[in-house]
Amino acid sequence: MSSLHPPVGFAVIGYGHIGKKHAENIQLNSNARLLGIFDSDPIKQEEIKNNQIHSFDQFNELLNHPQIQVVCICTPNGLHSQHALEVLNHHKHVIIEKPMTLSTLDANKIIETSNKVKKHVFCVMQNRYSPVATWLKEVINNKILGEIYSVSVLCAWNRDERYYKPNHWHGNLQLDGGPLFTQFSHFVDLIYWLFGKIEVNHSEFYNFNHHKLTQFEDSGFFSFNSPNFQKLKGLFQYTTSVFDSNFESSIHIIAENGTIKVGGQYMNEVQYCHIKNYDLPNLEPAPPPNLYDGYQGSASNHHFVIENAIDSILGKTSPKTTANEGKDVVSIIESAYQKRIL
Ligand SMILES: NC(=O)c1ccc[n+]([C@@H]2O[C@H](COP(=O)([O-])OP(=O)(O)OC[C@H]3O[C@@H](n4cnc5c(N)ncnc54)[C@H](O)[C@@H]3O)[C@@H](O)[C@H]2O)c1
Repeated sequence: MSSLHPPVGFAVIGYGHIGKKHAENIQLNSNARLLGIFDSDPIKQEEIKNNQIHSFDQFNELLNHPQIQVVCICTPNGLHSQHALEVLNHHKHVIIEKPMTLSTLDANKIIETSNKVKKHVFCVMQNRYSPVATWLKEVINNKILGEIYSVSVLCAWNRDERYYKPNHWHGNLQLDGGPLFTQFSHFVDLIYWLFGKIEVNHSEFYNFNHHKLTQFEDSGFFSFNSPNFQKLKGLFQYTTSVFDSNFESSIHIIAENGTIKVGGQYMNEVQYCHIKNYDLPNLEPAPPPNLYDGYQGSASNHHFVIENAIDSILGKTSPKTTANEGKDVVSIIESAYQKRIL
């Protein structure tokens, strides 16, 4: 299908696992043109060239390229804010991988700059596009469950020495931030998306078996309530200490009119649904998970993010996952760490 406007010019910074996903999805979209990638690692630069993509020698070359309108930030978490600010200050839109930043202070700087230069910021929260997530959102929004009583989330994955390698950004406090930022911010985002800006009451953190591998905890939990749901009491529990392979990421919702359990490795299967006068509709199958060196991560939905960015830049719609929402997720994680009692 031919489009009436020239393709939107894209570039990517960081050509690792997720940078490749962005590049692939940009290339698959007929309304987008991938104008090049910058990765600081010379081995990656060779890989970019071998894949017939223009490899920038310096980030500055990418920033000063006049046809690039939007840049996908796919570098380690702790570099997102620095890279996003540089892109915005060169009057380009940004798509920022999750987590948006590792602090609300940095997130605020991005929001202020984007307002000043009038460029969009899209945060990647691609799990929201999964059929089970959109169904849950509809059930909650339409108040089908009545009063919501209890919400419990369990994220139990395996990340061991096969994942935390020496001198890698994984495991480094400044660049990674910890499992709530790197592995489980998708699920914090889902809770935020479903129940609004939750308030953390208290939290505990532990390190069972990652002392030699990371500079942070491997497990913990926080309890929460939501100003939008009067009775709701929530518990978010997580660990990366599971033996050998991911176990599950699940959410149980106990409510006045029914009970739901969504499980699977990334909350992708409705495992129990018993609701008064309501039948579970047929849901589309979940998209396959992203794979990282044999590890299963979150849903592979990045094409929706690229599409939304293009449509917003062309003025056909507005950003679906905004900088303010990205900041709210960071602020929930930040407040979980602030409310620790252990
Ligand atoms: N949305 C998702 O489902 C999802 C999944 C995985 C990772 N992520 C996020 O994507 C980001 C990247 O993760 P990844 O798994 O692709 O990591 P990765 O280590 O595979 O890739 C990071 C890349 O960034 C490059 N890089 C590092 N510093 C740089 C710099 N200063 N300038 C240019 N390039 C630089 C590295 O050389 C590397 O190629 C992280 O923020 C991560 O949390 C999101």
